Amino acid sequence: MMLKLVAVSLFLFIAINYGDGQQRKSALSLGERVQHLSEMANKRAVLKFNSNKFREYIRVQPKNYSMIVMFTALAPHRQCVVCHHASDEFTIVANSFRYSQVYSNKLFFVLIDFDDGSDIFQMYKLNTAPIFIHIPPKGKLKPQDNMDIQRVGFSAEAIAKWIAERTDVQIRVFRPPNYSGTVALVVLFTLVAGFLYLRRNNLDFLYNKTMWATGAVFFCLTMISGQMWNHIRGPPFVHRGRDNEVAYIHSSSHSQFVLETYIIMVLNAAIVFGMVLLTESGKKGDPWKRKMFAVTGLILVTVFFSLLLS
Ligand SMILES: *[C@@H]1O[C@H](CO)[C@@H](O)[C@H](O)[C@H]1NC(C)=O
Repeated sequence: MMLKLVAVSLFLFIAINYGDGQQRKSALSLGERVQHLSEMANKRAVLKFNSNKFREYIRVQPKNYSMIVMFTALAPHRQCVVCHHASDEFTIVANSFRYSQVYSNKLFFVLIDFDDGSDIFQMYKLNTAPIFIHIPPKGKLKPQDNMDIQRVGFSAEAIAKWIAERTDVQIRVFRPPNYSGTVALVVLFTLVAGFLYLRRNNLDFLYNKTMWATGAVFFCLTMISGQMWNHIRGPPFVHRGRDNEVAYIHSSSHSQFVLETYIIMVLNAAIVFGMVLLTESGKKGDPWKRKMFAVTGLILVTVFFSLLLS
């Protein structure tokens, strides 16, 4: 992926610099273009362009405005999860600019989706997304005009910093506050407190070891099967290949699918259950039952542990 990206960036500069030499005269005058762009930007901080608009407003001369362009692929069937994260961050920067005091008509934020402008992607030989490019009013693109997201990431802060380096516009990022986590926590605490209050005359269940043990095992299963990773990275549920064949397990050890983590969780749960049976079989009691526990436990552990390893 990294290597591919470097190769793509290289192509990109050759292509963009080559393309710059062929810029056409626009049908609209500079004044008209600036006016149209400002009107569009007043409605939405990020302008969504297709190929025609790209030619009309970006690949033309003369210009007295800079463009920050995000090349991306947001359609659900493209399954580009990072594109959605990047798009959110990009929108935060654009909105911060839109409602700041430095807002002016010398900088515009543009989004080009692969499904609206695949020929633009082709023209620049892009085959990965997202990519952020700064297009200056005049002159050729420099390598730094392609934001190096592999190195600095694409958080709104990183994008704003990069924009400040490429233009002289300093954008202070303002993130809309997110209270959903706090609200969920308060609701949870209220529910638990209410439950304890209702059962205040009968709190024996708090000393029930099986309940706590089950809870602890479930927590461990959740954590070791990679649910946290899913929460942070948001991978797809499964992967649908070209011939509609479905992959449940990711081919690389650096990634995973959601279904894959459920499979891992079930395998681990079966091993744990086998272990519990083996432990139980050591306790005093009906010999026939203990024998059954031992045999079933052994089978569960050997079969599912082998499966997990394979
Ligand atoms: C760019 O040129 C247009 C037309 O002359 C003008 O209206 C606009 O204010 C200029 N923008 C900047 C940032 O100077």
